[in-house]
Amino acid sequence: MTLHAGEISPEEVRDLAAQFESAPLTDILRWAWERFGARAAIGTSFQGAGLVMIHHAVEAGLPFPIFTLDTQLLFKETYELKNRLENFFEVKIESLLPDQTPDEQAAELGANLWERKPDLCCTLRKVVPLQRKLEQLSVWMTGVRRQQSDTREKTKILELYHFDVLRDHYILKLNPMATWSREAVWDYMKKHQIPYNPLQDQGFRSIGCWPCTKATAVGEDERAGRWTGFDKAECGIHTFLGESI
Ligand code: ADX
Ligand code: SF4
Repeated sequence: MTLHAGEISPEEVRDLAAQFESAPLTDILRWAWERFGARAAIGTSFQGAGLVMIHHAVEAGLPFPIFTLDTQLLFKETYELKNRLENFFEVKIESLLPDQTPDEQAAELGANLWERKPDLCCTLRKVVPLQRKLEQLSVWMTGVRRQQSDTREKTKILELYHFDVLRDHYILKLNPMATWSREAVWDYMKKHQIPYNPLQDQGFRSIGCWPCTKATAVGEDERAGRWTGFDKAECGIHTFLGESI
């Protein structure tokens, strides 16, 4: 169900965001569940932060729907990890697919679109499927962390966006992991023995589609291995909503 103006004011969002800065993760998740129930959903790329969030939600008995954007160009390790996680957490993770398979896209727009027009490729394979999902939601919960990159350092824990400017349709973005460091995430992952992508142990610190992900060197920004060689730091899913209200 979509979020309409009047359900929550920008002032309330700002106050909550300030409160959440010092709130335990479970309290933030419980707020989302008590206020929105299954109108709030977790989007995950199976990286550490998203998995720490899912673990807290499951432990607290908060059955948020969970989805992933399956570009159909993920590493085989990532597809295997999805199955392991569904067993580990005893949850179902919905895969959101693009309109075209990679072969259909190649037939229409040429081979290896990511080498020529990565923004278009990301729009077709990630942003459009996400937009379709957000049409049905009020709260999109992410694992974005401030420490990940310069483009993310101003992330607030709760943000309000006008999703559809022509309609009375808003969306809340909840980023409860914003304050977490990479170290804190991985300490938690190890402590609770949460399954993770084996590519992490091969120098991949941010894992997306296979054509656009490289291992990173120590000291580099942790997302430096994404779209190496392009002036591109974001796939668009965290930018298409524009500025928060
Ligand atoms: S990305 O912008 O490079 O793709 P990153 O891997 O850092 O994102 O993940 C940041 C957050 O964006 C994740 O915690 C998740 O909430 C969301 N996200 C990124 N990729 C996906 C995906 N494939 N499916 C669902 N959510 C995703
Ligand atoms: Fe295409 Fe690369 Fe974007 Fe994946 S990350 S959708 S392969 S451009």
